[in-house]
Amino acid sequence: MIKKGIILAGGLGTRMSPLTKAVNKQLLPLYDKPLIFYPLSVLMLAGIKKILIIVNKGQLNQFKKILPEKNNLGISIEYKEQFKPGGLPQAFTIGEKFIGKDSVSLILGDNFFYGQSLTKILKKNINLKSGAKIFIHPVKNPNLYGVATLDKNKKVINLIEKPKKIKSNLAVTGLYFFDNKAIEFTKKLKPSKRGELEIIDLLNFYRRKNKLKAEFIGRGGSWLDTGNINDFYDASNFISAIESRQGLKIACLEEIALNNKWIDKKDIKKSLDFYGKCDYSKYLKSLIS
Ligand code: G1P
Repeated sequence: MIKKGIILAGGLGTRMSPLTKAVNKQLLPLYDKPLIFYPLSVLMLAGIKKILIIVNKGQLNQFKKILPEKNNLGISIEYKEQFKPGGLPQAFTIGEKFIGKDSVSLILGDNFFYGQSLTKILKKNINLKSGAKIFIHPVKNPNLYGVATLDKNKKVINLIEKPKKIKSNLAVTGLYFFDNKAIEFTKKLKPSKRGELEIIDLLNFYRRKNKLKAEFIGRGGSWLDTGNINDFYDASNFISAIESRQGLKIACLEEIALNNKWIDKKDIKKSLDFYGKCDYSKYLKSLIS
């Protein structure tokens, strides 16, 4: 059972500059919430209460203002700084102490997931005992992502990072479940041509040992990119359309915590004070009235 989760919220967000010059990309508004609420909501939906957020050097205070270690969400949040961007697997060496002897989930701070199938899939896979699990989703432009090729039995037979020649339309999303070996394997990785450790290389370690499994998010689920400005706004509009229509919020952290019975009315009241008068607070109020 995975009980710990890491959100990798470092990176320079260069493709989103100048928006990201002064503010970390994960704190930019994706419609009505900071982007980081969305990946955090995914971990919380999976039932994960122990969270490590890895941020760029010098950005701790920005994050702690919105997600303090002592929060009203019924979860524990720890922070670590990444001094130099060295690739996604660095999460496991930076987070070594946090992970301890446990399994861990890693989610990239800019990944947006949505759909009813999602919670089911998370709960189904959270019991991972050994090996690693990736979550895959078809996309029109696989050359922008890690790409998986599966055989007839859905076994992962090939994994390539941003391939030039496209053999499969199945992108590897930025959500991963790993057993504790991720730390040991990461230490064996060598930097790629671009000078970083690659998550695909780590996953290939598992694949070669027959320890990698893939799960489809399925057509009923959405995985949206927030990599460039246009995609960012498309994702914002998607959230706006659904929230306006249903009157329900996507990635309302307090609502998930309440549903998980991690917090009660008292905590929601504290959150009302924390956020002040705003639409988000109005929504929180509606949850307890
Ligand atoms: C990273 C991973 C890639 C994955 C993607 C998902 O790419 O390297 O395998 O498909 O995240 O968001 P990046 O977005 O850092 O280029």
